Amino acid sequence: MQIKKAVVPVAGLGTRFLPATKAIPKEMLTIVDRPTIQYIVEEIVASGIKEVVLITSAGKAAIENHFDYSFELETFLAQKGKRDLLREVRNISRLIDVVSVRQKEPLGLGHAVMMAETVIGDQPFFVVLGDDLVVSEVPCVYQMKKLFEELDESIVAVQRVPENEVHRYGIVEGEEVSPGVYKVNRLIEKPSPGSTSSNLAIIGRYCLRPEIFGCLHRTLPGVGGEIQLTDALSTLKNERALYAYEFQGSRFDAGDKLGYLEATVHFALEHPELGGPFRLFLQDMISKLS
Ligand code: G1P
Repeated sequence: MQIKKAVVPVAGLGTRFLPATKAIPKEMLTIVDRPTIQYIVEEIVASGIKEVVLITSAGKAAIENHFDYSFELETFLAQKGKRDLLREVRNISRLIDVVSVRQKEPLGLGHAVMMAETVIGDQPFFVVLGDDLVVSEVPCVYQMKKLFEELDESIVAVQRVPENEVHRYGIVEGEEVSPGVYKVNRLIEKPSPGSTSSNLAIIGRYCLRPEIFGCLHRTLPGVGGEIQLTDALSTLKNERALYAYEFQGSRFDAGDKLGYLEATVHFALEHPELGGPFRLFLQDMISKLS
């Protein structure tokens, strides 16, 4: 079945990034020359998906505006003859069809995904978290889409993390059925030390069958008093199969201050115009450090 929609939860308060996120959504923080959310949407679009369901909350209008048509700005740029900028701004609003749904209470990632139920209906869909930027030759969402076509079951993207970081993630235990693909038999959200020997951490890419909604409805608050998507996936894996996929590429946790800096350096070095001069600047900085 063709996957047409991606749910992007953006309702979080961004507390890990205060004070920067007091008045600005964390998804609008700039990495080089575009907001974080644009990298996420570009990955979704590059994977052949055009319909994005944003799960928003109060104070997040800037995200919707970013992907909307801006009459004033486009008229101004056209009048000034700034064609390149005009093209860039137009392309952003043409990237996707956006539907926004409000999450009225911050009850967790599982609750946020539940908000999309009526818009998604009885179709498989993606959940893509705005904090996790994945850099890869083939977009991570596309890699998962291809795997879904084979397996026809829900898939979570995973990566191995150092042992001292295991407690920050949803962790899966499973049996490797083909290189990098695991049939999941246990999931633990934010495990306490010693409660799992696995270091396969779920990152913010999920390819889900619609049966997840039934599981979410039956999920009680878990870690942090929130309705956890990981707990609903745990129910799903008993009713149907669930797979974990070690994606090809690298991931930056852009919701974390250090991860954000790392992502900034990466994307600055890759930038077609800034990459060269920025590399020289970094080399100079590093030579002064040692
Ligand atoms: C969420 C999920 C967790 C997952 C993580 C990936 O946690 O609950 O299972 O490993 O995203 O970024 P959060 O980062 O919102 O605490």
